[in-house]
Amino acid sequence: AQQYRITLLSGDGIGPEIMAIAVQVLKVVGEKFDLTFEFQAALLGGAAIDATGEPLPAETLAQCKNSDAVLLAAIGGYKWDTLPRHLRPETGLLGLRAGLGLFANLRPATILPQLIDASSLKREIVEGVDIMVVRELTGGIYFGQPRGIFTTETGEKRGVNTMAYTESEIERIGRVAFETAQKRGKKLCSVDKSNVLEVSQLWRDRITTLSAEYPDVELSHMYVDAAAMQLVRQPTQFDTIVTSNLFGDILSDAAAMLTGSIGMLPSASLGASNPGLYEPVHGSAPDIAGQDKANPLAQVLSAAMMLRYGLNQPTAADYIEQAVLTVLDQDYRTGDIMSEGKTLFGCQAIGDALIKALNK
Ligand code: NAD
Ligand code: IPM
Ligand code: MN
Repeated sequence: AQQYRITLLSGDGIGPEIMAIAVQVLKVVGEKFDLTFEFQAALLGGAAIDATGEPLPAETLAQCKNSDAVLLAAIGGYKWDTLPRHLRPETGLLGLRAGLGLFANLRPATILPQLIDASSLKREIVEGVDIMVVRELTGGIYFGQPRGIFTTETGEKRGVNTMAYTESEIERIGRVAFETAQKRGKKLCSVDKSNVLEVSQLWRDRITTLSAEYPDVELSHMYVDAAAMQLVRQPTQFDTIVTSNLFGDILSDAAAMLTGSIGMLPSASLGASNPGLYEPVHGSAPDIAGQDKANPLAQVLSAAMMLRYGLNQPTAADYIEQAVLTVLDQDYRTGDIMSEGKTLFGCQAIGDALIKALNK
């Protein structure tokens, strides 16, 4: 059997609940497809702070580097929100992305026919939505220097972050985006704020230059404010979107809601050499943690992305995605995707239904 070492980062809030389902699913899929998963848990985020005093212990990063893939649930929570920045759960996640060199974050937003009525938008707007957001993940304002809270000459405090991109950073995410578009609808929309920001001007210039190497991909540009509007107005106009770290963070949450719930959206974070990181787009949902209310499907679909993008097991990935559709066809729903005529299920019950579908 093919053997894979998988690091599991359950993190905080609903993290452990949804990770448990993904692991159950992977075990069944492993048996079906003759894959052996060696799961090894590690600490990240609030869980790591509580146990070790830091959000990204060196041991966790080392173990991730030594894996074939990393599956993450979510980190963060009220309990750690007042800690100094370098000790916050989010800083651990950012350190992990940077430490693994995961500059490309793929965030697909696809409307499943079964969930059209769970979307907050009208059926005719969301029908057929199939978008891939390619978000730059290790640069931009999340990492730019200088940053900090400084004191001015008048004694006033001044908060500073810096949005910066080098040409090579733009080029490498651009290549991932063009190649992604080539495999999809061959349309790429680059989203920036080049009417105001120099960093965006460079972004637009480099992406435009790069497009000469991808003549089969139709490139367009859009300002981020307009893109937010168009995503809600007519989302089917988009195929692949490429954008910077912060804009991608915001737009992918908006795109998530087109599909019914952020509880449905998986993501893959990829770099040049290290193992990839697979995680839902949503956070640790502290408001529903520990209540068996979380939708585990974004986590399960992240495991499918791990099989597809990280372990080169597309058939196993397809099999998981098919089981998700089966469960939705059976009208089982968590609260976030509930609509009329459906049955409300808890996180573990959805997991049980998935296992049943997988074992068919
Ligand atoms: P969130 O995504 O955790 O929650 C937003 C809303 O969506 C909440 O009402 C929540 O209940 C709901 N929701 C999210 N996932 C769900 C699921 N699987 N099933 C059902 N409902 C779901 O975002 P937030 O509330 O802004 O942030 C909470 C914490 O998560 C913060 O500490 C934040 O920093 C962190 N966060 C972590 C990640 C990550 O680990 N990748 C991503 C985003 C936010
Ligand atoms: C996400 C999250 C993270 C981000 C936070 C928790 C650091 O919102 O994965 O979308 O901003 O990238
Ligand atoms: Mn986010």
